[in-house]
Amino acid sequence: MNQNSSSTVQFYNGEQLPLELHKVRVVQKLHLVPVERRLEAIGEAGYNTFQLSTYDVFLDMLTDSGVNAMSDNQIAAMFRADDAYAGSQSFGRLAEAVKEVFGKEYLLPVHQGRAAENIISRAFVKPGDVVPMNYHFTTTHAHIDLNGGTIEELVADEALELTSINPFKGNMDIAKLRDCIKRNGVDKIPFIRMEASTNLIGGQPFSIANLREVRSVCDEYGIMLVLDASLIGENAYFIKKREEEFQNSTCGEILLAMCDLADLVYFSARKVSSSRGGGICSNNKEIINKMQHLVPLFEGFLTYGGISVREIEAMAVGLRETTDETVISQSPSFIEYFIGEMVRLGIPCVTPAGGLGAHIDAGSFLPHIPQSEYPAGALAAAFFIASGVRGMERGTLSSVRDKDGNDILADVELLRLAFPRRVFTLSQVRYVADRMKWLYDNRDLIGGLEFVEEPPVLRFFMGRLRAKSDWPQKLAAKFRQDFGESL
Ligand code: F0G
Repeated sequence: MNQNSSSTVQFYNGEQLPLELHKVRVVQKLHLVPVERRLEAIGEAGYNTFQLSTYDVFLDMLTDSGVNAMSDNQIAAMFRADDAYAGSQSFGRLAEAVKEVFGKEYLLPVHQGRAAENIISRAFVKPGDVVPMNYHFTTTHAHIDLNGGTIEELVADEALELTSINPFKGNMDIAKLRDCIKRNGVDKIPFIRMEASTNLIGGQPFSIANLREVRSVCDEYGIMLVLDASLIGENAYFIKKREEEFQNSTCGEILLAMCDLADLVYFSARKVSSSRGGGICSNNKEIINKMQHLVPLFEGFLTYGGISVREIEAMAVGLRETTDETVISQSPSFIEYFIGEMVRLGIPCVTPAGGLGAHIDAGSFLPHIPQSEYPAGALAAAFFIASGVRGMERGTLSSVRDKDGNDILADVELLRLAFPRRVFTLSQVRYVADRMKWLYDNRDLIGGLEFVEEPPVLRFFMGRLRAKSDWPQKLAAKFRQDFGESL
């Protein structure tokens, strides 16, 4: 390729900066509402950023899910969609793309990633089963629980050390995996799950060397290997950058090498392909047969799976774009820049920079707030007041309670600022860094939160909280004092 394929370039003054290798042709007007309104809005939202209206949000860094920018080719493809309940040509084109990008012959379409988890868990998890994984994702955990299984997270201890130079914090600890199999017995293990760009520990990748080791344990014991490929593009990009064996491989070749090691690959197209939908794929017809009957029951007929045909067309194009390093490097290069700024400003965050978002270490940012008062949730609310930027709590608030009703404290308390692909500009990212610095300098003003309404499942989505004192008002007053009439 005779063009720049990475989104970071060297400027004449020596700086390495991320560069937008795309042009913006459709735009959406944003609102930066005054701090008084931001204070009011977060109160109305029960101090839960999921409950905010985007009218009040300036930069929406809640997630990259379903909000990556679509390409011109994706939008164009949507116009040729073949509307048919059964046998749609659009589905045929998607199945071709899956074969090309993931190397898998058979595809079951589902409406999003968690729907794949529902079907996989129903088909394979029985009460008393144990699913070893590098680390859980919230919806995965919930579906395995729902089917009577439990999970064991087997990343190396170092993966939970927030600042590190370990390039592959998403790796499975093979000694822990062997111990887990011995303790529980092979019969209790329906599959081993590896998650690409491990979301909840900061978007951290695993290496192919590690995946090969997991594969050989699977072969030794005859256990199925399941790959959650929702963030596989970023993981492939990090392998190219960080794993010597693959430095001359294309992202597309790395994607194929990763999928080749797994018996079953599932994905959320909301993340991997800048569209909607999801899928489960495999080369093993027996594995597919165990799940196939569940798709019409929960999702829709086998050639649309609850996804509109227009989205299916966008998915096919988006999957192919995931192999393009220019596309896939955009978000990681912006995250790397932002994390570099955080480190320079002395703000605690997860290093090395990962995929999907930047993660601020709320535990170190707010050591005066105990985990029982949800420091990461408090930081998300405080940052919204300070900036109008919406992030997401990834800590104890996103956890669950034990049988006695006590919070199971999260391993790490993080505020995630997602970087959807090709959505934000560098000056917007600099604004985020600037407001974070202001908040860090005023962190003593931030206090804890407590639940007012707490749903029993996935409580972080709909839960409502209140501040344990009038700290939000004090924080907004200090902001007004420091910034005067400016927003
Ligand atoms: N697996 C991983 C690794 C994910 O990050 C997600 C979603 C899912 C499965 C579920 O997919 O949302 O399409 O049902 N992650 C989003 C996030 C929600 O914001 O991190 P879904």
